[in-house]
Amino acid sequence: MKPFAFSIVPVDVPCVKTEYRCIQTAIPVPQSLPIIEKITRYESRSMHGQMPVVWGRAKDLQVFDHWGNIWIDFTSTIFVTNAGHANEKILNALRGVLDQELLHTYTYASKIRASFLEKLVNCAPASLGKAYLVSAGTEATEMVLKLIRLNAMKNKKRRPGIIAFDGSFHGRTMGAAQISGHDAQREWIGYDDPNIFRLQFPFGWDDKFNDLSVDGQVQFERDLEALRARGIDLENDVGGIVFESYIGWAAAFYPKEYVQAWAAFAKTNGILLAFDEIQAGFGRTGTMFAYEHYDVEADLISCGKGLSSSLPLAAVIGRAEIMDLPDEGSMSSTHSANPMSCAAGLANLEVFEEMNLVEESKRKGKILKDIVKRLQKKYSDRIAQAPTQGMVTAILLCDPVTREADGLSASLICEAALRKGLILVHTGRESIKIGPPLTIPDEALIEGMEVLEECMDEVFGSICEHSSH
Ligand SMILES: Cc1ncc(COP(=O)(O)O)c(C=O)c1O
Repeated sequence: MKPFAFSIVPVDVPCVKTEYRCIQTAIPVPQSLPIIEKITRYESRSMHGQMPVVWGRAKDLQVFDHWGNIWIDFTSTIFVTNAGHANEKILNALRGVLDQELLHTYTYASKIRASFLEKLVNCAPASLGKAYLVSAGTEATEMVLKLIRLNAMKNKKRRPGIIAFDGSFHGRTMGAAQISGHDAQREWIGYDDPNIFRLQFPFGWDDKFNDLSVDGQVQFERDLEALRARGIDLENDVGGIVFESYIGWAAAFYPKEYVQAWAAFAKTNGILLAFDEIQAGFGRTGTMFAYEHYDVEADLISCGKGLSSSLPLAAVIGRAEIMDLPDEGSMSSTHSANPMSCAAGLANLEVFEEMNLVEESKRKGKILKDIVKRLQKKYSDRIAQAPTQGMVTAILLCDPVTREADGLSASLICEAALRKGLILVHTGRESIKIGPPLTIPDEALIEGMEVLEECMDEVFGSICEHSSH
């Protein structure tokens, strides 16, 4: 499918003025276009394709431009600002580091790194005793791959194989792309790593959303069979299995029994169980980590995004003996554990406690789910699925006649929402994703969902009008 191009021709739109939103110019703002054009001129186009809005300031649940417009943010940038944009406590912690004049320490010790690591490890399940800090989620994925392979080598496995899932996403560096399940995103590598064993994600529906759901245990046994049929000796050739705790673009969870069956199998066969919590972690789904919904014990988890609610910060947290497998100095990076990032991470975790954000996510998630269910009923022919857990949902659209995935409507709804003061996650495919800061007031969440409904009415209405002419 050709990527959707958001219009950069300013459109006169009705003014909006509510407690949380303000639209008082044409959208996109004519004066914003030179900025967008400059970026287009000087930056690789790989970064582009986003909705045409120039961010001037972002505070808690709102995004402000330079021309008086205000949007409700249903993206948390991209599942980062779980504790709200520019959270006061995080800002103060960063000011403290600036005043201390300690902007970089490399791997030398600092008080802030010590405090943050202690807090981070203590917020993870007790069996995960050590952490390693990096800057980007994809680096955390690379480290998970390295740790799994080192562990397999230590245990004298025949191959350091890793099981991963089609449809998942773990980052854009080479190893992360090898375990991500999107063929097109791996093409540039030119070969498939023979030690990555990919399985279908058990979505429970086919490409026309026909029900394919199957018992998790049965699916697990089918997958074992399929892997064995590919000549893989599961006990000797597999060092780890990596789950994206929910499949990002669809907010879809694996069947619980399926993950539990793999967890039991992994335990008896010396296979490490790793969860990618980079998007799903830090309260997003109503638990601190999304894999907690499966009631299994992880060996490794990778984190990023909501770990700091702000600055570049990612981490692997794992069982101490696995985290200590790399030799001294062999798993570090120049910008690992930067003092500013550590200060942001520590303050973020404190905000989580003080504001009870995990519980808040669960509570507000119920409000979100009720509204989504109502929309599903209203548009039962167009909303094929809408997985919702805590404060994340993905509304999957289909054509009402052919039942084929409808990415165009999803993009048009995102564009319509922008013009009304709401920023939705544009996935570029049939899903509209919603992931507001967990601090969002209930009324703003409800208002945003009303705007989404208006946009659906408009987009679906205009498509109907179009087809009846
Ligand atoms: C589940 C998941 N894993 C890994 C990544 C990569 O993180 P980063 O963009 O920080 O490298 C992402 C980013 O979207 C993600 O959603």
